[in-house]
Amino acid sequence: MDYSKMKIPYHVGIIVDGNGRWAEEHGKKRSYGHKIGSENLEKISRYILKKTGIKVLSVYVFSTENFKRSKEEVDYLMRLFTKKFKSDAKKYQKENIKVVFSGRREPLSEAVLKTMDEITEMTKNNTGGILNFCLNYGGHAEIIDACLKIHHELENGNIKEEDISENVFPHYLYQDLPPIDFLIRTSGEYRTSNFMLWQASYAEFYFPKTYFPDFNEEEFDKAILEYTKRDRRFGGIDYEKKNP
Ligand code: IPE
Ligand code: IPE
Ligand code: MG
Repeated sequence: MDYSKMKIPYHVGIIVDGNGRWAEEHGKKRSYGHKIGSENLEKISRYILKKTGIKVLSVYVFSTENFKRSKEEVDYLMRLFTKKFKSDAKKYQKENIKVVFSGRREPLSEAVLKTMDEITEMTKNNTGGILNFCLNYGGHAEIIDACLKIHHELENGNIKEEDISENVFPHYLYQDLPPIDFLIRTSGEYRTSNFMLWQASYAEFYFPKTYFPDFNEEEFDKAILEYTKRDRRFGGIDYEKKNP
């Protein structure tokens, strides 16, 4: 698809969902769905950041609530993240993509934290798009953590109460990124499961039925076509459009 003349979002969010059901439908274990899902994520991220003009992509890959899953599944996912960050670092570097993370470090293992830190460090000066992995991420946790940082700054006298505003608050979130314009959740679930509560307040939502491992370039193009038809008003009214 030719993206050059389209009204495209600046920041896209994807809630990566349906890996488990995809695997079950293929008669495989859930872990196989995660593996194929992670390969697809790497492919589709590069497509989005290199071929469409979209500047920021946030991907929800593990929520604070996902620790409720079996130890076997959590351990598998952590090993998979570690392996993928290690193997994909050079690919993102070559593509000039900057990789960042949103989420709490506790209780992630040293092994996964190390690969996260390495890929962050390796890609930190890149300018060809930002890939934000939301890992051990929760929207509630993020807002609490931001409030604690602000409290600390107030106590130390670095800022004053009157300095805090809706424009300043996002500086204290895990990453200081622009708001999410377009939020996609695969697998046909109609909820956001604690993703980007602050950043997605005016996002356009899109819920394709497709399970994430099958969410390919064509599916993404369809999503963007839908986005171009949305009328974003942000609470205002375009009077000229209504009464030309
Ligand atoms: C998304 O797939 C990946 C993670 C949440 C880690 P799921 O594992 O939630 O897959 P379903 O929803 O059970 O199919
Ligand atoms: C949301 O998916 C979290 C991620 C995609 C990482 P879940 O599959 O965990 O969400 P629920 O439990 O269906 O709400
Ligand atoms: Mg799920």
